[in-house]
Amino acid sequence: MTPDSPRLTFSVLTLFPELLRPFTGEALLGKARERGLLAYHLIDLREFAGNKHNKVDAPPYGGGAGMVIRVDVAQRALASLPERPDEVILLSPAGPRFDQATAEALAGKRHIALLCGRYEGFDARTESLVTRELSIGDFVMMGGEAAAACVLEAVGRLVPGVIGDEESHRQDSFSSGLLDYPEYTRPATWQAQDVPAVLMGGNHAATGRWRRDQALARTLERRPDLLPHAELTPHDSAALLALGVSAGQLEAWGAPTPPEQKPPPEQKPPPEQKTKKRRSNVGPEK
Ligand SMILES: C[S@@+](CC[C@H](N)C(=O)[O-])C[C@H]1O[C@@H](n2cnc3c(N)ncnc32)[C@H](O)[C@@H]1O
Repeated sequence: MTPDSPRLTFSVLTLFPELLRPFTGEALLGKARERGLLAYHLIDLREFAGNKHNKVDAPPYGGGAGMVIRVDVAQRALASLPERPDEVILLSPAGPRFDQATAEALAGKRHIALLCGRYEGFDARTESLVTRELSIGDFVMMGGEAAAACVLEAVGRLVPGVIGDEESHRQDSFSSGLLDYPEYTRPATWQAQDVPAVLMGGNHAATGRWRRDQALARTLERRPDLLPHAELTPHDSAALLALGVSAGQLEAWGAPTPPEQKPPPEQKPPPEQKTKKRRSNVGPEK
């Protein structure tokens, strides 16, 4: 079943629309378009230059290296959209860091416009045209197109129906507040490395617990900064204690207290065996 109108439309405003073409035409994002779940408008900022040379940039006031994209170009391009987007995002290394929580919030929108810079970026007044800025990390790329592709990938896959198994992204890294557990597939042994036996035993409860413990161990080792924000259960607290986290640290993270460990039942001496001679009805072996 295809929806009457796309669940989410992305308008990408860029000087290089062809860079986005493969992302919006291939793989699951392409299929989502075919199925009417997502729609993409790739808009060439040059069409809104307003001069016969299609020049969108100018040197910075105050001097300095590079060129700056004019705010009036951005404004005309945004005004050309058939409907007002509910989010207009300026991709910029100076913006707040894009993360899974932001992707989840954006997946509930109807129309997102992504403004991709080049050169020295946009005139600072462009900020007054947008609802937010986003950076995809603490590094500087030559343009915003790769950043827009990251947003398309991360947000698009959260739109209901885009990926087959809704459950799979609930378990992904960050969605649960932890890194994902390690996955294995055939062959069962590769270069003397075996798949963990618990995954081969068919015991779903044991598999579930093992995966959760692995996610906790990986997060503790690689991204301990995530743990104070993760939703932890009393069993998780017990697992973290076993991994060497102190009780004080767990308390500081707001983790629940681990389930009470029942002391082992007192060992009573076995009752003295009365040695009663029993008559055996089993006759001697013949
Ligand atoms: C060379 S950069 C401009 C850098 C700018 N002068 C600065 O230092 O903040 C050109 C464009 O690439 C995009 N860009 C570069 N790095 C980015 C990042 N980490 N996240 C999002 N967009 C980025 C932005 O759209 C930016 O306008």
